[in-house]
Amino acid sequence: MIYISKPFIGEAEKKAVMEVLDSGFIVQGPRTAAFEQSFAAMCGVKHAIAVSSGTSALFLALLAHGIGPGDEVITSAFTFAATANAILFTGAKPVFIDIEPDTFNLDPDKLEAAITPHTKAVMPVHLYGYVCDMDRIMPICERHNLAIVEDACQSVQASYNGRMAGSFGTGTFSLYATKNIMTGEGGMITTNDSAVDQKCRLLRNHGMTRRYYHDFLGFNFRMMDLQAAIGLAQMDRLEEFNNRRRINAEYFNLHMNSVVTPKVKPGYVHVWHQFTIRVDGGRNRDAALKQLNDAGIGAGIYYPVPLHQQAYVREAIGEISLPVTEQMSREVISLPVHPMLTDQERDFIVEQVNKL
Ligand SMILES: Cc1ncc(COP(=O)(O)O)c(C=O)c1O
Repeated sequence: MIYISKPFIGEAEKKAVMEVLDSGFIVQGPRTAAFEQSFAAMCGVKHAIAVSSGTSALFLALLAHGIGPGDEVITSAFTFAATANAILFTGAKPVFIDIEPDTFNLDPDKLEAAITPHTKAVMPVHLYGYVCDMDRIMPICERHNLAIVEDACQSVQASYNGRMAGSFGTGTFSLYATKNIMTGEGGMITTNDSAVDQKCRLLRNHGMTRRYYHDFLGFNFRMMDLQAAIGLAQMDRLEEFNNRRRINAEYFNLHMNSVVTPKVKPGYVHVWHQFTIRVDGGRNRDAALKQLNDAGIGAGIYYPVPLHQQAYVREAIGEISLPVTEQMSREVISLPVHPMLTDQERDFIVEQVNKL
């Protein structure tokens, strides 16, 4: 089976973990601080705060922006559940707008009409490794004084017009095992806002300013130094990993001819967390997926049920319709594009897709 993702764990990662074990400094110590510095520099922001997952990154970022009950956060429904879950756990309401069929990201044309007096933030989801159209989203947010909390969980090192994902507002990243770089579980918050930085640092550690002195109600969302050591080793390879993904994606784009393949618009650097094709207007998508899986290709559907159609979300926000989102969830198939693919595997994937 050619798996949809394959975490890379090399000698550097193993050595780094052993060094942490030998140091006796296991949780949120010097390796975490070094990882945060390295991540902030990569994103071109002042602060990065390491946390336990992408989900906790999203949740803390929202709390740090003061989002809570009675507030609305505008976002996409074509994403992983964590995007909306983080909003719901603050007590705020997710307000979903439709996406663009060619990028799978928030449609900026739909944004302004969704803003109400309760809207406090916009959460653009940079899906599959591709940044939202921030040149159009940011001026609207500025005009309405809305915070931007980016769900960049799938988009480490992606950029748009020279600006990195996670640097347009407050950024949130996942470092889960299948991501472009990973720490097993893990997440990162990025920001230029010192108040947001301070708030997130305290929230992740029980609101503790000094040992056992708690300024406010907080959580344990700390990262372990064991994880940070893996993350630091992966940072050294990030550029190379993403370049290999890019080469694979370009090869697919060049050679696949029976399906709609994803295109990259000028100004964007795509990091290809997923290479997502659209099949046959959705009519035979499930049969196509089975055909690929039967041939030994670990293709998958991200995401078969958009969030506004999940039962618990429906209960929270009521019935809404998002035609493009719903259509995309019927059409998409994501293919293995990870850096560990061999040339033979890449050719085999092309051959099988062209048979669909
Ligand atoms: C778009 C998106 N948002 C949020 C998350 C949550 O990240 P984590 O699994 O690290 O909690 C993920 C992870 O899969 C994701 O893909």
